[in-house]
Amino acid sequence: MPLPAFFGPAAIGAAAAVGAYALWTRRNRAYLSSESVASAYDAWTEDRLLETLWGEHVHLGHYGAPPRSKDFRRAKADFVHELVRWSGLDQLPPGAKVLDVGCGIGGSARILARDYGFDVLGVSISPAQIRRATELTPEGMTCRFAVMDALDLALDDGGFDAVWSVEAGPHMPDKQRYADELLRMLRPGGLLAVADWNRRDPVDGPLNGRERWVMHQLLTQWAHPEFASIRGLQHNLETSAYSKGPIAVANWNQATLPSWNDSILEGLRRPAAVLRLGPSAIVQGLRETPTLLLMRWAFARGMMQFGVFRLANDQVRSELG
Ligand SMILES: C[S@@+](CC[C@H](N)C(=O)[O-])C[C@H]1O[C@@H](n2cnc3c(N)ncnc32)[C@H](O)[C@@H]1O
Repeated sequence: MPLPAFFGPAAIGAAAAVGAYALWTRRNRAYLSSESVASAYDAWTEDRLLETLWGEHVHLGHYGAPPRSKDFRRAKADFVHELVRWSGLDQLPPGAKVLDVGCGIGGSARILARDYGFDVLGVSISPAQIRRATELTPEGMTCRFAVMDALDLALDDGGFDAVWSVEAGPHMPDKQRYADELLRMLRPGGLLAVADWNRRDPVDGPLNGRERWVMHQLLTQWAHPEFASIRGLQHNLETSAYSKGPIAVANWNQATLPSWNDSILEGLRRPAAVLRLGPSAIVQGLRETPTLLLMRWAFARGMMQFGVFRLANDQVRSELG
């Protein structure tokens, strides 16, 4: 007996899509406190999906400007070297003390220790990340990890030659406090390397209705309380009680944009690796896909901007644009 029209494939597909949308929007990971960020990263670390697909780096890749096609993991390692050069960390001698604030599972920290000889301390709010970072670090590497809140670092003032913080800023509810803590850690004359996901500054145009909906998803899906604008975080760093002088900024949207599509395509390039993790990893991968696509959309139109920040010196110029 044929099914009534309201049980047809189109109706079932539409009902499934509505159900999936309702689940995706209701069961989000809205920021509640630093504990909600810690538990989101604990879960992302323990299910091993991100590590399987993206390797040791939980940050975007650098594809050059203009961007060229390259392996996603290579682009992520290149990002670290680009930020080292841009912020002048390559001028520091081996043995220099570097603090990595929001270190993930230590991908950047290990490059800084292995390729530049730095003595690195990585801190994250997520205990699971710190356990995994420690496991992944070979004995003898000058790189250690500790659970710590970036807004309340249990470390002495001025103890580091450089402070590095990549894509941790979006999780900080108090951007001024984040800026203060980064700069408090730096010795006079030390170097700063910060990468952040930033919103278009309201001075450059308020969000329209569609952008506001997208912004709501970008905040609530991945435990982000708020995004600073590039100018906003620059201002926080320059006016901090621990200010070390003018801050130079740049917008790396163009060089990092291919990362969003690659973040999804890695799942298709390595299906066996994802399947080995089991059905929940597949569901998890599908769950992250809409947010990755919305991120790409927002960065492509400049509603979101990939800001990088360093201490300005004689040769440094502001490259915001
Ligand atoms: C997008 S991941 C980037 C990880 C790492 N920087 C990388 O590039 O691979 C954001 C990181 O910020 C950390 N984080 C978020 N809020 C934090 C806080 N209040 N204190 C310390 N770490 C925090 C997360 O645990 C995570 O390690």
